[in-house]
Parts: sequence; structure tokens; C-alpha cells
Amino acid sequence: MATLAPRPDLLLVALRRSRARTLRVRAAAVPRARRPPVPPQAARRVFLGLGAAFVDQLARMASGGAPSRSFVAAARPRQGVSPVEEILKNVEWPDEFPFKPDDFSRFDESSDTVFYSAPRFVTHIDDPAIRALTKYYSQVLPPSNTPGVAILDMCSSWVSHYPAGYKQEKIVGMGMNEDELKKNPVLTEYVVQDLNLNPKLPFDDNTFDVITNVVSVDYLTKPMDVFKEMRRILKPSGLAIMSFSNRCFWTKAISIWTSTGDADHAWIVGAYYHYAGGFEPPEAVDISPNPGQTDPMYIVCSRKKTA
Ligand SMILES: C[S@@+](CC[C@H](N)C(=O)[O-])C[C@H]1O[C@@H](n2cnc3c(N)ncnc32)[C@H](O)[C@@H]1O
Repeated sequence: MATLAPRPDLLLVALRRSRARTLRVRAAAVPRARRPPVPPQAARRVFLGLGAAFVDQLARMASGGAPSRSFVAAARPRQGVSPVEEILKNVEWPDEFPFKPDDFSRFDESSDTVFYSAPRFVTHIDDPAIRALTKYYSQVLPPSNTPGVAILDMCSSWVSHYPAGYKQEKIVGMGMNEDELKKNPVLTEYVVQDLNLNPKLPFDDNTFDVITNVVSVDYLTKPMDVFKEMRRILKPSGLAIMSFSNRCFWTKAISIWTSTGDADHAWIVGAYYHYAGGFEPPEAVDISPNPGQTDPMYIVCSRKKTA
């Protein structure tokens, strides 16, 4: 499908939706103790970052092809159906990459090194969400101590949320804060690197069986470069697992993330795999432990194609 021309009616929907979601994301996404005031410029900039073609595409997908139905209405949860899981089923990607450069801008464009200079020995999601993620990992990661297995935990910290006692010969953590990475018991080595300055991953082709990234894909301002690099360093059939909730350091998250909701986030991450190329169709999984009561938890994962 070709990238669609702007539609004024959908832009109106987008405006209402963007404002509502911006407020919701701000209310829910910031770690409780450190919520900053909401500067009014942010909402305007965030709305301007929402591409019309993207909104149109979302509306079409959500309406099964009828472009006049709003995405907001379609995304309202129906009993037993997760909008996040639905969004990547039968998805029709636009021919062209649907995001604009401004979609990857952030309210705080100052150095990430400064922002992450002090260690944060905290958890960024609540305990039920962590347990759900660990349980998911226990089902999909290679068994502990499998010879030859290598794993990369991208955007890592002092915790990776892998099953208790999980070990492999090589588990590399990449992140921004060395003190945090040093304390992470599961890592066999670590690399401190700002992926927004240097998205080149310092590993040979076909190195890793699995790449994980927990609640951090929204901080990547060059996701296409990073996802292409992920494809390069994964072994054939290697698995990439991006997980996220509805929290973030919103001043550091990209504008297309802070202006959209959970199902859109799954679409955005799915798009990263799709446009990076060389991945199987991405899949979204909703592993939220108590929908509406505790932090939601979502996975968007894909395997590198074998050929
Ligand atoms: C919300 S924390 C999540 C940390 C960890 N994955 C966890 O679950 O506790 C965000 C992480 O993203 C990483 N990060 C943020 N910006 C980054 C950048 N520009 N380059 C590399 N990593 C970055 C930092 O290492 C930071 O620890």
C-alpha cells in the first residue's frame, strides 16, 4: 500500500487523540517519585510529530480497511481481546517508512550521558509486571547453561529480569551507566555506549541467539540503524524481544511514543522490524498480569530470517 495523502478528518481525530493520549501517557508513564511538570510546548510539538500517513494507516488497520472509522474507537478494549495483540495481525505496512525525523525528537535533547550519569538502582515497572516478564523469558529463552548460547541485553541496567539463576557462557549488557551494569549479576560482560550517538553494535555478525530490551526501545532516536544492527549480529533464527509497559522518562522518550498509546507502540516497534528488513513478521504479545490494575506488559518480538 502506498503512503497515503493527509486527510483533514483524520488529522482532527489525531489531534483529539493525541491530546488525550499525551495527557494519559504523562499521567501514567513517569516513575511515580520523579514526575516533572508538563510544559505546554511539549503537547504542541508532540502533535506536530504525528504523521498524517501514520494516523491514516492506523485508522485503516483498526477499521479493517474503512478509513473513516477512528482508531480510538477501534482500540477500546473488548472483553478478552487485547488491542496490542490485535494490532500486528494482518497488518498492511505502508510502502514507505511512515515516520518523519521529528517523530524521533525528544523534549530533552541534552546528552543522554548526563541524564544517565547517576546510577538508578530502582525498578522501572512494578513487581507483577516484572514477574510476568520473567515468566515469559522462562518460556522463550534457551535453557540456562546451553553451550554456545550468547545473549545481548540492550539498554540494560542492574537487572535483566531473566529467570533466577539464569546463566549462559556469554550474556552481554549494553547500557548507559557503568555502575548499574557492574552490579547486574546475570551479565558476563558489559559495554557502555550511547546508541543515539553511535548505533553501531560492537559485535561480529551472527553472534547472538537472543537480544532483549526491557522498557527502553522508546529512547532510541535512530531505531532503524539499531534494528539493522540487531539483524546483523543475531544468528539466523535468532530472537529479538522488545518489551515495554506504559511508563517512561517522558522527556527522553521519542515524540511519536509520548503522543500515542499502547497499541500504537506495538505498531511502532513492529514497524522497526519490518522496515529494518530481514526479520520474520513481528508478533505482539500482551502479558499484562492484571489488566487495568497493575502495570501492563507487552512484548513485540521477531526472529531473524534464515536466508
Ligand atoms: C528505563 S531504563 C531500563 C533499564 C533496564 N532495561 C531495566 O529494565 O531496568 C532505560 C535504560 O535505557 C538505556 N538507554 C537510554 N538511552 C540510551 C542510549 N542513548 N543509548 C543506550 N542505552 C540507553 C539506559 O541504559 C537505561 O538504563
